[in-house]
Amino acid sequence: MERGTFSSGLAVFFATLGSAVGLGNIWKFPYLTGQYGGGAFLLVYFLCIIFVGLPVMLSEFFIGRSTRKGAVGAFEKIAPDTSWKNIGKMGVAASYLIMFFYSCVAGWVYYYLFKAIRGDFVSITMESASVQFGSVVTSAVIPLFWQCVVMAVVSGILILGIRKGIERVTKTLMPLLFVLIIICDIQALSLPGAMDGVRFLFEVDFEKLTGTAILTALGLAFFKLSLGMGTMITYASYFTKENNLLGTGLKVAASDTIVSLLAGLAIFPTVFSFGLEPGAGPGLLFMTIPLIFSQMPFGSLLLTAFFFLTAIAATTAMLSLVEVPVAYLMEEKNIPRRTAVLINGVLIFAIGILATLSADKASVLGHITFMGRGFFDWFDYLSSNILMPLGGLLIVLFTSHVVSRRSFAQELTNNGTLKIEWFLPFFFFVTRYITPALLIVIFLNAVGIISW
Ligand code: TRP
Repeated sequence: MERGTFSSGLAVFFATLGSAVGLGNIWKFPYLTGQYGGGAFLLVYFLCIIFVGLPVMLSEFFIGRSTRKGAVGAFEKIAPDTSWKNIGKMGVAASYLIMFFYSCVAGWVYYYLFKAIRGDFVSITMESASVQFGSVVTSAVIPLFWQCVVMAVVSGILILGIRKGIERVTKTLMPLLFVLIIICDIQALSLPGAMDGVRFLFEVDFEKLTGTAILTALGLAFFKLSLGMGTMITYASYFTKENNLLGTGLKVAASDTIVSLLAGLAIFPTVFSFGLEPGAGPGLLFMTIPLIFSQMPFGSLLLTAFFFLTAIAATTAMLSLVEVPVAYLMEEKNIPRRTAVLINGVLIFAIGILATLSADKASVLGHITFMGRGFFDWFDYLSSNILMPLGGLLIVLFTSHVVSRRSFAQELTNNGTLKIEWFLPFFFFVTRYITPALLIVIFLNAVGIISW
């Protein structure tokens, strides 16, 4: 079967950035930055990117591009007949778990975009904002319908393939996402009292930089860059052979952070200007934002722009997630792309129903819990807290202990054409000792064995 590739370095950049930029930029990153010490947290976050994010990312790039295989096949090619390929299988499993609940939240975002266009938020109040959101998450029909729309859109794009699908969509939508964020920023920053929001986001406060803050920064660096579950392996298998892997990694990490900060600059000045308390997660996205944006000049238009950019972020992240099992079925089971996409689209929707109907305690299946967590929470916990850090750890152990330094160096320098030799000793030292040590700490903290 013919294997697709991206057509240029720019396409590689936008597709990879499309995977990194997701719901995490809008409901997680800005809030955590404000809560854990602003500029001080950002500094730690940058260190985490350098010592954990980039080493894992470059390892995944190496594994994918040098083998031109998806998550499972790549390990099999480098280390045939060993159990290392189970890392790939774990990645496929983690992708599924994330997709089950990510597609549900993406569905809410699509629905809110639809509501914003329809003008549902024009006379919204604090109470009606939470009643509206409550009725969405507990309904049995609406969220399932929109989750189905999300899967149809994502499947439709993936059926078109690497260049006509993923590449074309990310190259068009990622620049649009930037433009939309900047429009929201200009409007937010011109509100009276906007500086309080800017201060919340950036004011350096080392007192808030606790152990928990540092661990949060580590986990965030990992989640933000879509690492530890074979997504970057799969995408890298479509990279051009001239691509500078280190350059792509740095550009994607930097741009992803900029998108998060721009999102924060649209959200917090507005929240503070209207005298509300900032909060994190679904509440911020689906209650606070409609409430305050609707009271601003050009409110309905801005709200539409905001949910449109959030929908873009969620969709391009979903593309990279679904591509993991699609590549697996195509390569390992010889199934044509169209069938592989359809099988996955239907499967994710079918099991995703469990997540959607258990998203809230009052949802249809909300009463079913195992050890205190419902389906939605289990999918989230297992993927983000267990499989992602564990996958990342095994990936760096693989590239630093199984792969020869020579072949890793050749891939990073494109067979010696890129002059980055000075960087390699530092990089190999970090991937061998520092990254695994930090990942073990994140993992032990995530499962609750150690805590700060
Ligand atoms: N990076 C995405 C975000 O910020 C979330 C994510 C985590 C992800 N792991 C992934 C996306 C794997 C795609 C693939 O929201």
